[in-house]
Amino acid sequence: MEKFSVVIAGGGSTFTPGIVMMLLDNADRFPLRKLKLYDNDKERQEVLGKALEILMKEQAPEVEFSYTIDPKEAFADIDFCMAHIRVGKYEMREKDEKIPLKHGVAGQETCGPGGLAYGMRSITGMLELIDYMEKYSPDAWMLNYSNPAAIVAEACRILRPDSKVLNICDMPVGTLRRMSQIINKNPKDLDVSYFGLNHFGWWTSVKDKSGKEYIDEIKEYVSQNGYLTQVEVDTQHTDPSWQETHKKAKDLLAVDPRFLPNTYLKYYLYPDYVYENMDCTYTRANEVMDGREKQVFDEARKIIKKGTAKNSGFHIDAHASFIVDLACAIAFNTHERMIMIVENNGAIANFPDDAMVEVPCIVGSDGPEAICQGNIPMFEQALMFQQVTVEKLLVEAYIEKSYQKLWQSFTLSKTIPSAKVAKDILDDLIEANRDYWPELQ
Ligand code: NAD
Ligand code: G6P
Ligand code: MN
Repeated sequence: MEKFSVVIAGGGSTFTPGIVMMLLDNADRFPLRKLKLYDNDKERQEVLGKALEILMKEQAPEVEFSYTIDPKEAFADIDFCMAHIRVGKYEMREKDEKIPLKHGVAGQETCGPGGLAYGMRSITGMLELIDYMEKYSPDAWMLNYSNPAAIVAEACRILRPDSKVLNICDMPVGTLRRMSQIINKNPKDLDVSYFGLNHFGWWTSVKDKSGKEYIDEIKEYVSQNGYLTQVEVDTQHTDPSWQETHKKAKDLLAVDPRFLPNTYLKYYLYPDYVYENMDCTYTRANEVMDGREKQVFDEARKIIKKGTAKNSGFHIDAHASFIVDLACAIAFNTHERMIMIVENNGAIANFPDDAMVEVPCIVGSDGPEAICQGNIPMFEQALMFQQVTVEKLLVEAYIEKSYQKLWQSFTLSKTIPSAKVAKDILDDLIEANRDYWPELQ
């Protein structure tokens, strides 16, 4: 069986140990010959690199493992780049979340004005990674889950249209695991229909392989409990703020009971609720810095000190196995059905061809082929058109260095109440992002 060389870009990410463990767990179907970590932060990379070097020697000595901050070393001789960078790190995520709150506007790392600010930073970092990959391993594929995925995908569509970059999100897979728990099924035995943008979509069908439809049974449950399950099916989305998000899906479903909603719609349909229930002094960035980031780096330091990863607290990021599914689909032409972010080109019939949408696709060695979802109702179409225009205006603003277009992008966001508030937030974010954004005119 062919063996693959993989570089994880954002090798100092809190998700790196979970992805490495998941890759080892899937070595029978996706065997590795080389695994490299790449980050542009030497200190973060060294801590996780040293700890994972110990773990790899113990658990997979046959795989050539290395970590580096040198792009050439990282990107030479690779088949896949799995990318999860955070340009500006947690320091900037905290600002993304807290600056809009000062103006009465809430959001998440991918939603609302903070998500837009993050988008303006991410584009530069992502283009850099793509260019390294194409320079040193022109045949490789990038499986990117660096956020905000919708904006990154639109930037790639315009600025690197021929690049082999696939932008993906774990939320549809994560929510499907919840749905399968609700109906007591295995997620692998279910096929869904779905339409939307990244972090902005709806399920229209959840069927088993015999064609039996379960959506009504799931809706019945969600209308009472949201996506909160009896048994926890996740390791990632479990903090109190996430539990609240899963629960709120109940009120999202009430707005349009025809479809099962993506949890992120709460930022657009209930922004007042989100703001009122937010602690403006302790946001998700604080929760993650004190939680996941601390745990992962403490654990890595412990491994280094002890010189062994036996009984370590690193655990397999099981829900991320969809990344292996995707790598296998490309490597072995499996034609697996997966929800992906792709250029619409008719997949949603009454939506612009050049919009980056999220729909089920059949994935093979040439990449994803979208499955047509037909026409969508006016309510969802209008919401999506507003949001996709926010994203398109932002990418145009980035390319043209246009203050005017970025202000329009913010003004159009359903999370922001007026052009004045949009301008006030934007001006503060420009100040905070001086080291990251292009200078706007
Ligand atoms: P993190 O801050 O712990 O890790 C990100 C790493 O990227 C840092 O070590 C940082 O130094 C590095 N980095 C930043 N800019 C870089 C560049 N230009 N080149 C190389 N490395 C760079 O963040 P995290 O919480 O672990 O999240 C990582 C990313 O994964 C984020 O973008 C997050 O939004 C994303 N994510 C996406 C999904 C999804 O569904 N698409 C799910 C989970 C996480
Ligand atoms: C989900 C989403 C990601 C998002 C993440 C935030 O997995 O699909 O796109 O980045 O949650 O998680 P965090 O724990 O960092 O708030
Ligand atoms: Mn996501």
